[in-house]
Amino acid sequence: MKRRPLLIGNWKMHKTAAEARAFAAALAVPAVRLASTADYVVCAPYTALHVLRVTLPRAVALGAQNVHPAAQGAFTGEISTAMLHELGVRYVIVGHSERRRLFAETDAWVGEKTAAVLAAGMRPVVCLGEDETERAAGVTETVIERQLQAALATVTADQAAEIVLAYEPVWAIGSGRTPLPEDAQAVAGWLRAQLAERWGTAAAARVRILYGGSVNADNLGGFVAQPDLDGALVGGASLDPTSFLQMAHVLTGGNA
Ligand code: 13P
Repeated sequence: MKRRPLLIGNWKMHKTAAEARAFAAALAVPAVRLASTADYVVCAPYTALHVLRVTLPRAVALGAQNVHPAAQGAFTGEISTAMLHELGVRYVIVGHSERRRLFAETDAWVGEKTAAVLAAGMRPVVCLGEDETERAAGVTETVIERQLQAALATVTADQAAEIVLAYEPVWAIGSGRTPLPEDAQAVAGWLRAQLAERWGTAAAARVRILYGGSVNADNLGGFVAQPDLDGALVGGASLDPTSFLQMAHVLTGGNA
């Protein structure tokens, strides 16, 4: 089964609203060339979501980088799924390694967020990946399996098409180092086999799996040529509109 290719930019803590508007403006004219055969998403800081909603070309969907799983409440500084959905957000990153590492997010907490995002009618982009020490110890699969089981604890097979998994080895993020595409494929194939055990082959075949970590327009092609990799979650290289468009072009085999 062919899945729709997916390119997601994760801006992290970059771009003011004015800078986001400039990005959207730069995309606006070339965006008419964005192939309709793929999905494109920008996950911006909360403060830039509104301006992007009104300025981003329609071909580019809006994403957020985090969410709180509760519907509402006394959680100073947090943002709910309803607040994001109302702003037009369609994708929400959950369990990014920076949040796990710097903000002490647990596997179970990521599971709660995944469930909340799905319940609100948005797509969770669930990040999984081993760090350098775990890689050296040869426990990549153990780590990712633990993260996966917790993240999908309450997710059912009929929600598979709404799920996006992003395999992001922590050592590859922002480092300029990447695994070989074949090695990323090995993890993605293993992930899909885990999903098939859980939900059956048909549902597992509907889940989009991305690679993330030092992706750019030059190396993206190698990853998306792999059978189980459907696109990329991109940090640094997604900040520049020209680079974003180049990656969209690569993603769709030169048709963007
Ligand atoms: P870089 O593409 O900057 O390595 O970041 C990857 C990432 O963390 C995307 O979520």
